[in-house]
Amino acid sequence: MTSHLPDGSRLAFGTATASYQIEGAATADGKGPSIWDTFTAVPGTIVDGSDGTAACDSYVRYEEDADLVKGLGVDYYRFSFAWPRIMPTGSGAVEPRGLAYYDRVVDALLERQITPMATLYHWDLPQALQDADGWLNRDTAERFADYAMVLHEHFADRVHLWATHNEPWCAAYLGYGSGRHAPGRRDGGGAHRAAHHLMLGHGLAAGRMHEAGADAVGIVLNLSPVWPERPEAAEAADGVDAIRNRVWLDPLVDGAYDENLLRIAPVLRDPDVVRDGDLELIRGSADWVGVNYYTPARVDVPDEGQSAVQSYDDAGDAEVDAFPGVENLTFTPRDPRTDIGWEIEPGGLEELLVTTHERTGLPLIVTENGAAFPDTERTPDGTVDDQDRIDYVRSHIEAVDRAREAGADVRAYVLWTLLDNFEWAEGYTKTFGIVHVDRTDLSRTPKRSYEWYSKLVHDRTS
Ligand code: NOJ
Repeated sequence: MTSHLPDGSRLAFGTATASYQIEGAATADGKGPSIWDTFTAVPGTIVDGSDGTAACDSYVRYEEDADLVKGLGVDYYRFSFAWPRIMPTGSGAVEPRGLAYYDRVVDALLERQITPMATLYHWDLPQALQDADGWLNRDTAERFADYAMVLHEHFADRVHLWATHNEPWCAAYLGYGSGRHAPGRRDGGGAHRAAHHLMLGHGLAAGRMHEAGADAVGIVLNLSPVWPERPEAAEAADGVDAIRNRVWLDPLVDGAYDENLLRIAPVLRDPDVVRDGDLELIRGSADWVGVNYYTPARVDVPDEGQSAVQSYDDAGDAEVDAFPGVENLTFTPRDPRTDIGWEIEPGGLEELLVTTHERTGLPLIVTENGAAFPDTERTPDGTVDDQDRIDYVRSHIEAVDRAREAGADVRAYVLWTLLDNFEWAEGYTKTFGIVHVDRTDLSRTPKRSYEWYSKLVHDRTS
């Protein structure tokens, strides 16, 4: 039993953000460039041509953000550290002004009785490490563990609940497979190699943190329920399951990659990539698993003559590149969908929590769940009237309740996201926040969903 996890006696609540998506201050106080600073500067990568230079200006407005979190009455605030603020070139010298910023953030939370839930890596890799090939290079995993230890040592007195990576699937398969995310590479084999190095980084960091006394080190995964549309799609669905789910869970639980995954990803058979001892080091290295859930993956194989890949976010491109022999894979989200095109299916979350708990035996935290909807509906006083987001969140919290009743050890629900922020390749065009952020002056105004979530949290925690 780990003592720094929520104890599960009731479902705990939180809300989340990530460094690049909210901080801005891209060059302040010695911060080095990250791969997202570089990637966003390339024309055509971000739909509205925007970037995180200003984001939500949380580097300056963190006290106001902490007040907003406090107003919700939640137990936890999930945020991430920007590696290039702490180590501008990814290794070596530590930038004290970067640490000082997170001292201010953590202290602002603690003063308000909010427990920090810290993510070490939410995709903003120092560019200097990318110049040495980023997650394709095994050395990045070692550098990650060094960086993790800098933070653990500095914050051990105040931060106890840690996640190493956020959604390594995106870092590997969107970053190195489809190229939709930084660093924008397109190489299916590279994506699998990056996946292994990300897991190795997790294992190395968690091992060293545990030795130093940490007892609540987890990893945040965007696992998917994978549903074949018909029996003919079963093989394709198995392939999707392999690289969405098993590539992370199997090494964590069994210390192995399974045969079907190895067929899809032969690079994982290469003893120079997966070295002796790697998988043993990863096995058992997580005290908890974070589940980010938005939508299920419905997989189909089109009939003869139909076009091949259709996908809501081009993730399918990466998967098709990555699957020899599975060329005709389609993702077929059903209605209703959110503004980003993702099917709304709370049953997927319930299923995922039950199966992930069965698979891992570990405590789970829903580290992200939420919805993009346009901010067009307004109440007479001008508040964003986001009933669609309220319905989405309510139905997903009910799914978490059902999963708990079915025996899944889910400790907390963390809503994505506090603020409308930089939504990666979608720029500022898709808003997930329960607080509206005006793009001209970056002022914050709670939406109706903020008031609703605050009431739900107060009702369920008092
Ligand atoms: C998952 C990511 O962790 C987060 O950064 C992103 O904004 C949300 N999903 C919504 O796409």
